[in-house]
Amino acid sequence: MNKAPFKDSTLPVEKRIDNLLELMTIEDKLGQLNQLFTDRVIPLKEELTEQVRKGKISSFIWPKADPAERNRIQRIAVEETRLGIPVLFGMDVIHGNRTCFPIAPGMACSFEPELFEKAQAVAAKETRAEGVEWTFTPMCDLARDARWGRVAETCGEDPYLSALCNVAQVKGLQGDDISAKDKVAACLKHYVGYSCPRGGRDYSDTEITEWTLRNSHLPPFKACVDNGAATIMSSFNAIGGIPAVANHHTLTEILRDEWRFDGFVVSDWMAVKEQISWGFARDNAEAAKLAISAGNDMDMLSKCYLETLEQQIESGEISAEVIDTAVRRVLKVKFELGLFENPYVEEDAYENTVLKPEAVALAREAVAKSTVLLKNENVLPLTDKVKSIALIGPFGDDQVEMLGCWSERSNPEDVVTLKAALMERYGSDTEIKVVKGCDVSSEQRMICLQDGSTVVDRDADPNEGCLDIGGAIAAAQSADIVIMAIGENRTLTGEGGSRATLSLSGKQQELFDAVAASIETPIISVVFSGRSLAIPEVFEKSSAVLFAWQPGIQAGPGIIDLLSGDVAPTARLSMSVPHHVGQMPLYYNHFVTGRASGGVYRDNVPTSARFWFGHGLTYTSFEYSDIRIEPGKANAPAKAVARITNTGDREGVETVQLYVRQLACSKGARPMQELRGFKKVSLLPGKSAEVVFQITDEVLSYTNRNGNECVDHGEFQIWIAPHARCGEPISYKY
Ligand code: NOJ
Repeated sequence: MNKAPFKDSTLPVEKRIDNLLELMTIEDKLGQLNQLFTDRVIPLKEELTEQVRKGKISSFIWPKADPAERNRIQRIAVEETRLGIPVLFGMDVIHGNRTCFPIAPGMACSFEPELFEKAQAVAAKETRAEGVEWTFTPMCDLARDARWGRVAETCGEDPYLSALCNVAQVKGLQGDDISAKDKVAACLKHYVGYSCPRGGRDYSDTEITEWTLRNSHLPPFKACVDNGAATIMSSFNAIGGIPAVANHHTLTEILRDEWRFDGFVVSDWMAVKEQISWGFARDNAEAAKLAISAGNDMDMLSKCYLETLEQQIESGEISAEVIDTAVRRVLKVKFELGLFENPYVEEDAYENTVLKPEAVALAREAVAKSTVLLKNENVLPLTDKVKSIALIGPFGDDQVEMLGCWSERSNPEDVVTLKAALMERYGSDTEIKVVKGCDVSSEQRMICLQDGSTVVDRDADPNEGCLDIGGAIAAAQSADIVIMAIGENRTLTGEGGSRATLSLSGKQQELFDAVAASIETPIISVVFSGRSLAIPEVFEKSSAVLFAWQPGIQAGPGIIDLLSGDVAPTARLSMSVPHHVGQMPLYYNHFVTGRASGGVYRDNVPTSARFWFGHGLTYTSFEYSDIRIEPGKANAPAKAVARITNTGDREGVETVQLYVRQLACSKGARPMQELRGFKKVSLLPGKSAEVVFQITDEVLSYTNRNGNECVDHGEFQIWIAPHARCGEPISYKY
């Protein structure tokens, strides 16, 4: 008997889908739009297994990392269902699988998108080897309010840098062919506007104008769609009262009609049903109808599609065509992943694929390139003359904390802490005292009640956060150098990790203050955090500050590379650092208002950042001179040029940044500054080089409310500078 055309891999995917759609019943089709949770139980519960057998599950989210169990489930789908459509396994592998890399805002500080690409290529390889072919990354949201705990998953506050970093992640994850054994399908999230919740409170509603959406929030998504991202996740938030999962404007008019996205859209967790809580849909049926009609193809977990769409098709409420379109998009990705040809995974490949030496070396390089030197008063790099070091603080030897906010597949035992790396590098010649001082956290633990309110957990350990100031001071007083390993604990970031303050967690500020007050010895603070923190005393009283984010398994070696000077710092902030939490939301590229004085705080809090986006020091210094515009010729655009000189006594790398402002745009005000380019230049001491940026239309452009890229004739300001909001602009007339 001839095999069905959909099984013929020599046919074009569209033809195979046409054939499959003809053979599918309405139940089969709704099954393909349904994603369920494995409950992380092995073996899969009988009830779920039965649903696989009936073809009612298109995809599983969060399987346990167990290739044999995964194959067993897949075998049921492929060999026991009528049409044998394989299941798609999806997992949140965000900043690494077993090889855990620094979190995204840290990686973005490298200003080196290729580093992201390499790291996600490692993650893709390890992930596909465990039998997961779809990851819910990269996050294309922006970090504009540090109170929002999910800034820890963004590539920072700037759309231009985010777009580059996100595209690099898609390339690393997907490569040229997602059917390859070491590639996975990416999922852009959260579409769209999730990063503007009120008061920084996760899941809150948002009000975003079309102008800001087009020019700030959409560009990173658009860039990834243009670069072939396979899937997108719609977000939890509602914009102007319309839940993102049911937003026809963003999901269909922009995504499909304007951008021609041809992958599929999955909802976020239960978000289809949550339209009822938003007061947008009356019941499950209406929620399903609104979401699928708006362009949300797959329902993550709520079962609203599975349980209500059939009747709605029969009653004519929804057209069969809408369903076919969504199924077509899902099947396309399954075909492209090669799941029909190769549904199973090698069961013993995972252990041999993870933590390869080259992957671990890349993780170390990534830590060094993500850690930002915010301040340095001639104490770094450490000299070999240091006879004794005190390492104080709860982050100095905590393996779990280093893993950061998404590390389901990582293992704390793989983490090399700062203490371990310090011992390894300096232990034989230097006396090293290590004092924890206090716990990472002493927040009163809160519990969430069924009605959504929170109360203090009275059963929490009352000793949590205990303070050992005496031990810390004694160690500090007997050392030549004090390294303070401080920050905020990782559970304060990630999903639901919103904060009302941006302080050190627990009793660390008390610990820091006590140590700082008791010594003249220089303090080097290494800050571990998932967000930028408002910690003015730390910035003031430390002689040097390294901002290390949540660095992953190679935390210690990567940071020691910098402290020792074996590697010079190159990282630049992807997210501005505030003076005070009250400044939130804070980002460099905001609009200029009619009255500069209007925003001045009457209580002595500056309006500027403590450190602006793009800031970062190294072990030499650079001078910017001869900044000028060279007019364009015939077909060549004008150039912005600057001479950069290494004025220190060490070789170093400078990340030269190009910022632009359009002075008058009648379509809508343009931001005070926007990053539109950067270049790295490596210079020996005393040497200089010219850095040149072409002022192309793209550099000057904006997107109008209809989604068209525009550039206007008129006056612009251009900065070539070491970070945002720095240096004098030069004028340019286009
Ligand atoms: C909810 C989160 O918002 C999203 O980022 C994640 O990918 C899904 N849950 C799946 O775990």
